[in-house]
Amino acid sequence: MKLAFIVDPVEGLDPGHDTSVALMEAAGLLGHQVWLTQMHHLTVIRGQAYALLYPVELVPVKLVDHKWLAVDDWYKLGLPEWSPLESMDVVWMRKDPPVTIAYLYATYILDLVNVQQTRVINTPKGLREANEKMYALQFASVMPETIVTQDKAIIHQFVDAQGAAILKPLNGKAGEGILYLETGDRNINSIIEISTRRGAEPVMIQSYLPAAIEGDKRIILLNGEPIGAINRIPSGKEFRGNMAVGGRVAEVEITSRDYEICSTLSAKLRSDGLYFVGIDVIGGYLTEINVTSPTGVREIDRLNNTHLGLQVIQWLENLLAKEN
Ligand SMILES: Nc1ncnc2c1ncn2[C@@H]1O[C@H](COP(=O)(O)OP(=O)(O)O)[C@@H](O)[C@H]1O
Ligand SMILES: [Mg+2]
Repeated sequence: MKLAFIVDPVEGLDPGHDTSVALMEAAGLLGHQVWLTQMHHLTVIRGQAYALLYPVELVPVKLVDHKWLAVDDWYKLGLPEWSPLESMDVVWMRKDPPVTIAYLYATYILDLVNVQQTRVINTPKGLREANEKMYALQFASVMPETIVTQDKAIIHQFVDAQGAAILKPLNGKAGEGILYLETGDRNINSIIEISTRRGAEPVMIQSYLPAAIEGDKRIILLNGEPIGAINRIPSGKEFRGNMAVGGRVAEVEITSRDYEICSTLSAKLRSDGLYFVGIDVIGGYLTEINVTSPTGVREIDRLNNTHLGLQVIQWLENLLAKEN
């Protein structure tokens, strides 16, 4: 197979942490060819989507003392060429959030790729469909109590009723802008004004789940099925569990409740073309559905002795074999 990855600049990727690298590496290990490109290189000429594609070869990371170790020159780029994306079998859209206007434009360019010829994962339509915070609202039965509003009085009412709540900007990631609210906090009005830009933008407010202290579980779903999970436990005085803010990762089981949550989502994920997804589960409740560039594969593999990258690429091999 030929696979292209639309990613952030490769020099900024962390081979021992980034799932995009794990996927590229697995493709290489299975004998496939891999190219890299960036979102700003996507171009339309006569109705066809092109990208400046850099062939890339990776040196796989190794597990040493329970840590992924990469050599200094872990990637080698070849000479780039402008090529139609349809010359690829698979295009992975793995640009990190936030979802900006430029990101949305990129999805429109990806719409031009003929799906008979090239799989785009996740599909551009699915990426537009699923705001990472709001998409979960479609599965209210497995979500904690949640509102989305820019109305200060409604936020106050909700926080007073719940006692404590978590405020989330709708385009945040990695813990950014996540705030803890409680009745009586003297900063609460200011917090609401700053977060909603004085009532100009809605935010999400969710009831505070005390189980968050025990961890925020990341479950990776491939084609609607859970394939692995890890726990992220807040460290020190931090209430957020995100790895980016120092959350400690730990081994965790996929419970029957987790399977129930996944099966609630799975048909919708498939029909929206969201094939590779990371959901967050706190205390048995779905809090977020990550679709843009979900991470966790390196940590899951390290703690469970799995190789999820290979599993994902083999799934693609089978999918393409069935189609041809
Ligand atoms: N309802 C909640 N109750 C308690 N803690 C929460 C809740 N929602 C999120 N958190 C904490 O905030 C962190 C980030 O929240 P999340 O919704 O996953 O946003 P993102 O990861 O995109 O920043 C989580 O890892 C968790 O520690
Ligand atoms: Mg999260």
